[in-house]
Amino acid sequence: LSAALGGLRVEGLDLLASAVLVLDEYGIVRFANASAESLFHLSRRALQGQSAFALFRHADELKAAFDEACRQAFSDKRLHLLLERQGTGWVPLAGVVAALYRPDFPVLIELHEIEQQLKVDREERLLDQSQANRELVRNLAHEIKNPLGGIRGAAQLLEGELDSAELREYTQVIIKEADRLQVLVDRLLAPHRRPRVVGDVNIHEVCERVRSLVLAEHPKGLAIVRDYDISAPEFRGDREQLIQAVLNIVQNAAQALREGIEAGTAKVILRTRVARQVTLAKQRYRLALDLHIVDNGPGVPEEIRDRIFYPLVSGREGGSGLGLTLAQTFVQQHDGVIEVDSEPGRTDFRILIPLP
Ligand SMILES: Nc1ncnc2c1ncn2[C@@H]1O[C@H](COP(=O)(O)OP(=O)(O)O)[C@@H](O)[C@H]1O
Ligand SMILES: [Mg+2]
Repeated sequence: LSAALGGLRVEGLDLLASAVLVLDEYGIVRFANASAESLFHLSRRALQGQSAFALFRHADELKAAFDEACRQAFSDKRLHLLLERQGTGWVPLAGVVAALYRPDFPVLIELHEIEQQLKVDREERLLDQSQANRELVRNLAHEIKNPLGGIRGAAQLLEGELDSAELREYTQVIIKEADRLQVLVDRLLAPHRRPRVVGDVNIHEVCERVRSLVLAEHPKGLAIVRDYDISAPEFRGDREQLIQAVLNIVQNAAQALREGIEAGTAKVILRTRVARQVTLAKQRYRLALDLHIVDNGPGVPEEIRDRIFYPLVSGREGGSGLGLTLAQTFVQQHDGVIEVDSEPGRTDFRILIPLP
């Protein structure tokens, strides 16, 4: 990468989260930054030398803004653009056309994916919300835990004083229910109990471990397909936590796939990739691990789709609703995010974790 474009310093532009194109006086792209490469799904080499107007649909407005910028009629102008991107179809963009006041490179275009921006805002909101939720649950669990011991103890003492077996049945109910609540409360508090153990994590070791655990449970009818990008580097993290997180997701998939397992058509795909220039929880990262856990089951029930990461939300009989909460907690402890995209026949849980 040349640090200067006819004296215009461009190397700093590679650090920007927004895509930037620098155009010459003919509207030809002379420089594209790293974010532009990932936005267009094109290499810098492929972008540079192309006419900027050929990159977008209905580029008339862009052309007009370009002409005005060349005449230095304004310093910057905002507009909406539509990009046709290989594989993903039309992508709406918010663009800023800025005049650089140089005859050789008169115009710079800055581009943001509109949906991307909306998504980042939404993710930030969800993150704050889930942290508040967890705090609430933890405090509540603590408050329940203490009196629960007292209730159980008192019921036991009472039982010792009772002569009638019939009445002892009642104290047995109290004791049993108190024990059940105790187990629930312990599970709510569990993720915060065990100290984190941080080491080098190889995500494929994590996946393999989960795969063999789940296959041991479902030896027939379930295919767990590996689709690994073995170039994904190791990162610092808690291996056991990540195994638990991925295991919870794959176990949910296996539960949702019950019919498919009986029919022998059930499939879970574990896919790893390396993503570039991603924003996770308000932070921008150059590289991130992109792990997908995809199943061909019936999909997450519509009525709980927005809430499945909340504690105690479950769509199945006897579910605790803690599996995904725990998975989310562990992923967030790795500065990552977890999201889901689900429709009948295809449910895709995605985990993104920053890479070094
Ligand atoms: N792969 C999946 N396919 C369909 N539904 C799912 C899937 N994963 C999770 N769910 C739904 O999300 C709910 C919450 O999952 P979870 O937090 O692990 O709690 P639990 O498994 O105890 O119900 C599940 O009960 C299920 O309804
Ligand atoms: Mg579960």
